[in-house]
Amino acid sequence: RVIVLDFGGQYNQLIARRIRDLGVFSELLPHTLQAAEIKGLNPRGIIFSGGPNSIYEEGALKCDPEIFSLGIPILGICYGMQLIVDHFGGGVEPATKREYGKAQIEVISESPLLQDLRQDGQVWMSHSDLVMKPPAGFTIDAKTESAPIAAMSNPSQSIYAVQFHPEVQHTSKGHDLLRRFLYDICQCEGNWSTNTFIEDTIAEIRQIVGQEKVLCALSGGVDSSVVAALIHKAVGDQLTCMFVDHGLLRKGEAEGVMETFAEHFKMHVVKIDAKERFLNKLAGVTDPEQKRKIIGNEFIHVFEEESQRFGDHRFLGQGTLYTDIIESGTATAQTIKSHHNVGGLPEEMEMELIEPLNTLFKDEVRLVGEELGLPKEIVWRQPFPGPGLGIRIIGEVTEEKLTIVRESDAILREEIKNAGLDREIWQYFTALPDMRSVGVMGDVRTYAYTIGIRAVTSIDGMTADWARIPYDVLEKISNRIVNEVDHVNRVVYDITSKPPSTIEWE
Ligand code: XMP
Repeated sequence: RVIVLDFGGQYNQLIARRIRDLGVFSELLPHTLQAAEIKGLNPRGIIFSGGPNSIYEEGALKCDPEIFSLGIPILGICYGMQLIVDHFGGGVEPATKREYGKAQIEVISESPLLQDLRQDGQVWMSHSDLVMKPPAGFTIDAKTESAPIAAMSNPSQSIYAVQFHPEVQHTSKGHDLLRRFLYDICQCEGNWSTNTFIEDTIAEIRQIVGQEKVLCALSGGVDSSVVAALIHKAVGDQLTCMFVDHGLLRKGEAEGVMETFAEHFKMHVVKIDAKERFLNKLAGVTDPEQKRKIIGNEFIHVFEEESQRFGDHRFLGQGTLYTDIIESGTATAQTIKSHHNVGGLPEEMEMELIEPLNTLFKDEVRLVGEELGLPKEIVWRQPFPGPGLGIRIIGEVTEEKLTIVRESDAILREEIKNAGLDREIWQYFTALPDMRSVGVMGDVRTYAYTIGIRAVTSIDGMTADWARIPYDVLEKISNRIVNEVDHVNRVVYDITSKPPSTIEWE
């Protein structure tokens, strides 16, 4: 493995991601990790990431200086380069011209790292400090018009540094630079893949679980599905999956989950029909946060009560992802919405957690899912919130309104798929605002509901833009909804980005 020490830069996760793409396992770890701890992990290489600090500013993040004596190859990127200069003694100065964006480097040494950048030196810069003088023992490997030292190295100590960002796409040969670091300098073997991940994880689960029993909450989403499939492969019938139908699911969803897991995979899946419980609790409630809390709490109650009926389970399988861990570690953000998902269950349940996906990124989970033979609809499923359709109905949730959202959503999904847009658009659904308006149908006045179409493009759901669905596709969707869904006489398209809106309407 190769570890990436996190100094707070915005591309840091991407570094770990790129390294894994090159077949080497990589993790982003806190910059406070001590040299002895790093030694224990036995990495083949260490990368110092970029970061927002200036090395000379007060409180600038530093690392344990002993790391430089471990004899493990080091690559410093951007701030990571300044850190190296700071340690070995050189000169860092504020740049007279800040550099953000594309730049051309000229390679001026034989550095093995930069071989591929001789032909194509387009790189991505994002910094306000510059190294002006290399530390003793370092050679200058590359320069740009405004940065006299765009890369430097001390090959005898296996320490390399670049001012630009090899992990971003705009550095044309960034991939090759990282490949050379991993294979030529760190001597990595490159045997990390989803295949080895599956084998190793199954072996590990078997060892941890032994003869004990495991419980999993299945939501039909990709994370919980992959966890269930992995644990099932490892321990078979020692696993019980619980699927709670809270009545807020999309059309065909409950049936789909049961068919896939109970019939196709022959897993032990218990379906809990809790529709009435949830609807009763939601009756008369209109406040979005209150609705979210009710659904989240009720979910936990149902899960606790029902799980007792299947006897003792020592372990609980959860679909926590690597990103969940990173984000919860650093997040100080204000609560915009209280999220509910299957992942938030156990605290008071006193079960031991098994979180086999906690080293993976979302797209790696999808690859593992495909490898395990899960159906495409699950593996590539668009995100669906824990509170389900409950937060796509503005105001009180009723049976009638659920039918309206469910049916209109099914039409939207079908037409987006028919138009071949289902992979391109990140998330798409219908929402039912709490309003009615006047229309005319067959010469008769109507006073009926409006359906809002929400469709966005996004990478991670943190920011999003509204999807430019072609007019003819929108036309077809609108026609079908007003004609096929009772009580709807108007369809509108949400053309706001996030921020300032959010993706869901509540
Ligand atoms: P917002 O509406 O906050 O949504 O822009 C961002 C993404 O998160 C999903 N979402 C949820 N997912 N539990 C979840 O598991 C929740 O409570 C929840 N609320 C929103 C939303 O669908 C979008 O993909």
